Amino acid sequence: MAFNPQDHYFKKAKKEGFLARSAYKLDEIQKKYRVIKPHDKVLDLGCAPGAWSQIILKIMGKSGFLRGVDLTAVTLRAPNAEFIQKDIFEMAIEEFKEAPYDCIVSDMAPKTSGVVFRDQVLSEELCQKVIELSDVLLKPGGHLVMKLFQGGGTKEIQTQVQKRFSKHQMLKPSSTRKESKEIFLIGLKKKG
Ligand SMILES: C[S@@+](CC[C@H](N)C(=O)[O-])C[C@H]1O[C@@H](n2cnc3c(N)ncnc32)[C@H](O)[C@@H]1O
Repeated sequence: MAFNPQDHYFKKAKKEGFLARSAYKLDEIQKKYRVIKPHDKVLDLGCAPGAWSQIILKIMGKSGFLRGVDLTAVTLRAPNAEFIQKDIFEMAIEEFKEAPYDCIVSDMAPKTSGVVFRDQVLSEELCQKVIELSDVLLKPGGHLVMKLFQGGGTKEIQTQVQKRFSKHQMLKPSSTRKESKEIFLIGLKKKG
């Protein structure tokens, strides 16, 4: 089937006031695994334009705190959210002032080049970085959600998540396009 940028989820997002159709991916993950709770401190990596942030802010409520990071600026504003426009590979740990977090989510994706293998490797590098950050910034008992373009390194990344979390899952949300290689790795309850 031809790629249709204005598909069902695109139209639904527009109607429901979400900044992107990706909102429904986190919504499905949240309904299944309850990774975010009211009052949580959450780190949203690759947060632009801000649809996941909208979902997170709704769940955590006013007493939670959201830190978002993206290469691109985010126009979304909330009293309990702060956004940093930066490359995740160039950030110092000290910049995550409010850490540790209850939950880290990453919807980061490399700019797709069309060369499948290259995009997969770049996506794996992003996941490696997220795992490294979660070692330092995520509370014991906290949860991790990250996007990965499936490829040769998938097993290795899965193993790394498995080692660090009491439970791990892999999900391809129903709003992900059928032809897409993206999946979400979910680590529940970081080991202490
Ligand atoms: C699919 S979009 C995220 C959509 C977002 N979750 C939402 O719901 O609005 C992927 C994002 O990852 C960001 N990204 C990719 N590489 C990054 C990096 N090295 N550091 C920070 N952000 C990065 C991109 O700029 C892009 O905005």
